[in-house]
Amino acid sequence: MKPSLSQPGILAAPLPVGRSLVFRIAPGADVAAALKKLGKGFSTSWGVMGVGEPLVRALGRTIPGLRAFPEMTAPAGPIPSTQQALWMFLRNRDRTATFDATMEIRSLVAGAFVLEDAMDTFLYAGGKDLSGYEDGTENPRRAAAIAAALISSGKGLAGSSFVAVQRWAHDLQLFQSLPRTQRDAIIGRRADTNAEIATAPASAHVKRSAQESYDPPAFMLRRSMPWAAAHEQGLEFMAYVESLDRFERVLRRMAGLDDGIVDGLFTFSRPLTGGYYWCPPVTRGRLNLSCLGL
Ligand code: HEM
Repeated sequence: MKPSLSQPGILAAPLPVGRSLVFRIAPGADVAAALKKLGKGFSTSWGVMGVGEPLVRALGRTIPGLRAFPEMTAPAGPIPSTQQALWMFLRNRDRTATFDATMEIRSLVAGAFVLEDAMDTFLYAGGKDLSGYEDGTENPRRAAAIAAALISSGKGLAGSSFVAVQRWAHDLQLFQSLPRTQRDAIIGRRADTNAEIATAPASAHVKRSAQESYDPPAFMLRRSMPWAAAHEQGLEFMAYVESLDRFERVLRRMAGLDDGIVDGLFTFSRPLTGGYYWCPPVTRGRLNLSCLGL
């Protein structure tokens, strides 16, 4: 499978500025005509686009492996689902380009899809989470990234991907009030050197999420970015996977649903949103929506 069949924003290195957009279906919309128009007009240079299960259902179709994000009641607390019809993630060097792309998208979807949620994101300290820890260290690279993130075969499916999106809100005042050793034990890495702490507790995030400790292994391509408003901040978690099971098995273990041990992250952070989307492949520079009959 050629990586050129995938939306380029999936495998590309992160850019400094992002914007996450989520849309619902407008009442009475002709979703097939609207999605066809969007497919033709969407420029993959803007970012990545994904289709949610409610939209696929409205089209009378199915995409194997796509489902709605499951709401969970877990030892960690509630894991919400805010599943919607359509998701886009804009990636840019500056906000001028984000603004221009947003205007074009708004006119492309006008009357058919309503903007439900938007969040601006940014690269912090060269790729750290706002907690101060390097994010993305153990991401698979090159061929391993392709194997983890992209569907390898199938007509109209090869090169496509699934994305799991979850907005987390951090209580940084609480986190920063903890001693450094306790903060490091929550993550399982040292903030100053990024070295993994072999003796970290089972609740440490990198112990809970250790990709090779799953059977089969749960490698995923994480492309999360921080978000911050004046009074709130956190992480827009995004991971591309060839199967949503990879993400869901890790989330369940983090939430304590496997063995009752809750990921230390929940000490200072909690998920506010949750959605799964199918990111169609690309043919000759345009989204290929043939799997949806378009
Ligand atoms: C508050 C939200 C989160 C924060 C701040 C966070 C932060 C981090 C950090 C600092 C690392 C270590 C460096 C690295 O390898 O990237 C890491 C690793 C990782 N995280 Fe998260 N993460 C969050 C949520 C999640 C979620 C929801 C998942 C998946 C369900 C996840 C999956 C992973 C995986 C697979 C690794 C690599 C583990 C390994 O194989 O070593 N994370 N995360």
